Amino acid sequence: MAESKPRVAIIMGSDSDLPTMTAAAKILDEFGIEHTMRISSAHRTPKMTAALAEGLEDAGVKVAIVGAGLAAHLPGVIASLTTIPVIGVPMSGGGLQGLDALYSIVQMPGGVPVAAMSIGKHGAKNAAILAAQILALSDPAIRDQLQEFRERQTQGVEEKDRALTAGEL
Ligand code: RP5
Repeated sequence: MAESKPRVAIIMGSDSDLPTMTAAAKILDEFGIEHTMRISSAHRTPKMTAALAEGLEDAGVKVAIVGAGLAAHLPGVIASLTTIPVIGVPMSGGGLQGLDALYSIVQMPGGVPVAAMSIGKHGAKNAAILAAQILALSDPAIRDQLQEFRERQTQGVEEKDRALTAGEL
């Protein structure tokens, strides 16, 4: 969903991050939360990244989800240029399977926080749910959707357990 007034910005350092970050977009679509997706690199397009980060608040964006791999400085750089909450998603690629990106994102020095998620698609999914939870603080309709999402999730596991004990799995 790409609407004129996105409430969430999904930003990633490279198009190679897109298959992972699509997991965040999918959840936001499910909740009907308007969002935008952008590619901007902290080291390859630093000026574009600064302009993007500095424009987020004026564009009406309330939460930024930022994915990056390897040295993964993009979430911290964006967080340094805005006061909206930034949720960082470490990509799983590279020789260290995402541990480098995880450490980079989670180890922000005091003063400029980034909310670090787990590595890869699980992290991207949780980033979108966390963004929805932040928006739900001032939007009861999203709070209701989150409640329903949790109930569906619970029922899904209960159904799997029933199928397993019935010998259907
Ligand atoms: C980071 O470097 C990107 O976020 C990506 O995860 C990683 C590799 O980028 P590419 O070489 O695939 O463009 O900046």
